[in-house]
Amino acid sequence: MKEKLEKTLDFIKSKITDVPKVGLILGSGLGFLADNIENKIEIKYEEIPYFPNSTAPGHEGKLIFGKLSGKNVVALKGRFHLYEGWSPEVIKFVIYTLKMLGVERLLITNASGAINKTFNPGDIVLVKDVINFQFRNPLRGPNEEKFGPRFPDMSKIFDEHWAKKVKKFFPDIKEGVYLAVLGPSYETPAEIKAFRKFGADLVGMSTVPEIIAARHCGINCLVLSCATNMAAGILEKPLSHVEVLEIANKVKSGFSKIVLKSLEVL
Ligand code: HPA
Repeated sequence: MKEKLEKTLDFIKSKITDVPKVGLILGSGLGFLADNIENKIEIKYEEIPYFPNSTAPGHEGKLIFGKLSGKNVVALKGRFHLYEGWSPEVIKFVIYTLKMLGVERLLITNASGAINKTFNPGDIVLVKDVINFQFRNPLRGPNEEKFGPRFPDMSKIFDEHWAKKVKKFFPDIKEGVYLAVLGPSYETPAEIKAFRKFGADLVGMSTVPEIIAARHCGINCLVLSCATNMAAGILEKPLSHVEVLEIANKVKSGFSKIVLKSLEVL
């Protein structure tokens, strides 16, 4: 892994001018969040040695370097889901790449289903904790001591100071626990009922492996989730990816505002 990572880094560093301090992972249909990046340098995943290449609909695979809210950022447009067949180690590789590039903080966005009935489609929710129902861990296998300990603490996976600053500007922002499933099938109504009992407010198919890898190597995280639909069984209608993309598209301006402010307050 070390040699691959070095080749990946050499290639990316040869293309960029500034060290990115903040990474931005853009979820399903949320790629527009990269639109406001200034002085963009784009690198397609497929060009980068050893970098994975995403296939999900609504996901375009590239790294976008530049300035957003005055911060040097790198946005990952297109993420790597376990349901695509990626092994969790691939996600670790991507996060370690960010770490080696100089990233200290990670702003993760995703689309999710609302389990909490007080949430509404289109709500942007600040994720305060997660439940790993994917039963996969990106840190499985030999530990990369250089990045972090064998048994990393996960009791505070989110940067409370960062969240506090964001909440100052958005005092009414909802907060919730995100439960990650493998997908790609959506959940059954019985699963959603069970997840509610576990304490989950949101359900989605991403984010948790990224957070685990990021916390392992000391990157501070903030997760903003767009509840694109009520989870299975809450409403009469079936779930669809088209609806997820439609709602993500509708909340564009509100979501952008929160993301820009979240970077500004750093
Ligand atoms: N379930 C899982 N993942 C999702 C959902 C959902 O209801 N909505 C958006 N991503």
